[in-house]
Amino acid sequence: MALFKEPAPEAAKSKLPPWKIAIIDDDPAVHDVTKLALRNFEFEDRSLDFLSAFSGEEGMDLMSNTDDIALAFVDVVMETDDAGLKLIEHIRQQHKNNTTRIVLRTGQPGQAPEEEVIRSYDINDYKAKTELSAGKLKSCVYTAIRSYRDIRTIELSKRGMEGVIQSSSSVLKSQTLVNFGTAVLKQTLTLLNLDHSILYFTSQHTDLYGDSNMTVLAASGDLIELTQPGKNAKLPAKIEAQIAQVLTSKTHYQSDDVFIGYYPSGKDSCNVLYVKLTNALTDLQKNVLEMFASNVALVFENLTQKEDIQQTQKELIMVLSDAIELRSKETGGHVRRVALMTEFLAKKLALSDEFIDTVRFASALHDVGKISIPEHILHKPGKLDAEEWQIMKTHAQKGHDLLANSNRIIAKMGAVIAKTHHECWDGSGYPNGLAGEEIPIEGRLMAVADVIDALMSRRSYKPPWSIDDVKQYIAEKSGTQFDPQLVSLALKHFDRFVDIRDQIPDDDE
Ligand code: C2E
Ligand code: SIN
Ligand code: SIN
Ligand code: FE
Ligand code: FE
Repeated sequence: MALFKEPAPEAAKSKLPPWKIAIIDDDPAVHDVTKLALRNFEFEDRSLDFLSAFSGEEGMDLMSNTDDIALAFVDVVMETDDAGLKLIEHIRQQHKNNTTRIVLRTGQPGQAPEEEVIRSYDINDYKAKTELSAGKLKSCVYTAIRSYRDIRTIELSKRGMEGVIQSSSSVLKSQTLVNFGTAVLKQTLTLLNLDHSILYFTSQHTDLYGDSNMTVLAASGDLIELTQPGKNAKLPAKIEAQIAQVLTSKTHYQSDDVFIGYYPSGKDSCNVLYVKLTNALTDLQKNVLEMFASNVALVFENLTQKEDIQQTQKELIMVLSDAIELRSKETGGHVRRVALMTEFLAKKLALSDEFIDTVRFASALHDVGKISIPEHILHKPGKLDAEEWQIMKTHAQKGHDLLANSNRIIAKMGAVIAKTHHECWDGSGYPNGLAGEEIPIEGRLMAVADVIDALMSRRSYKPPWSIDDVKQYIAEKSGTQFDPQLVSLALKHFDRFVDIRDQIPDDDE
């Protein structure tokens, strides 16, 4: 192939890749004149790179093998009278390239009438070769590159958005965040024309217990193993420090070799896009990245929440199915009632939405430790003796231990509730004798709801109490067994507790 490539000498100096200009003309002098006229040309800090072809056929090879040519100068008459026109048809129709700007040049204007050619062929300009003065050529190239740049921006954004939509719908099917994250990274790499950069998306979330979780949702390059399930790979310290800085300053960070995007996605959570660069980003790239990543952040937030809930539920189903297997006599009514009662109290206390959502499920786990209590003690018809009582009291710590290994918020709060739901306001409870506000609020809420419901229900060791007796008991224990603030709240809204009791009867009733 006589096709050859000459990098412009300026390209070496410039950090950004040059714009590619194709000159397709059978007259070598036209190549020389064009290159000479444009030799110092720069647009947005990028110089020009000339690609030459000397026939329509060479032109087809050139255009098929190079996909980011900004502008092609095409001669009309080469090996045939219409070789240039055929080439243009090939570029637009067969190769489906509508991005490259095409300037048709002819030595004999009469041969291919300007108006008809512009109408029938998708070209951007039509010039007589006599119009090859340096000034005219330059302004023609400025216009063409500017419009190529804009078309690329639109095309890339569109492709990016299509990618997001596509990956969103596939993630809704496959239900995995990592697949989605990987698709986002691929799109970002394409958008920015980066090949070998390290890039990843992480999500950070600070939960009710102040623990902050950093999850690497997707990665490319060297860090790809960070997303492999079961691997607990750590981020390199330098990167972790840079990300920490972004999390503190809550803004993007940008230097010549790294871009870190900060995208808040909720009150206590955010996503971070880390891109290691080989070149500084252009304004265009920054804009595309910003738009793309902001859109992605929204989708991520939804998926994160969804996946978090699903993961939690899986863990709970495991724990609970163990419990159910071991204790098939449980009715389930108690668990569903205390869930509604604790949720109600948490709302009345105006606790956070996340707390309210969590306590509802976590409270269902308060007695999960009873799976370790022997049958004859658990279902003893009468009062427990001292030894049996010691064993019974272990259910609080045992429930905690069952749940404590999970880092999911429902299981975490479940562990706290299991451990503290039999503590008393005056310090006389078990297992640790905590007093007052030493007892976490979720434990205090649970204590009130648990006892109200237990007293209203039949147990193997006691009949259900009357509503008045239950109210009286709760009132009497204000400040000794229970948090006084919660007692007054519960008594004020006691009807609601009775409603819940009536709506969800035990299975044997
Ligand atoms: P549970 O049946 O779910 O009861 C939860 C809590 O409700 C009890 O925690 C207690 O604070 C209150 N409660 C339930 N029934 C009564 C009652 O008749 N009188 C009073 N004053 N309070 C009541 P507690 O005491 O820490 O007991 C924890 C668990 O130990 C109970 O859960 C139950 O499974 C078992 N348990 C407690 N006492 C007995 C008993 O005498 N016989 C049997 N078989 N089990 C008992
Ligand atoms: C006990 O001391 O046996 C527990 C008190 C009760 O809940 O009945
Ligand atoms: C429960 O407290 O969760 C059910 C009642 C029982 O175990 O006796
Ligand atoms: Fe309990
Ligand atoms: Fe209970």
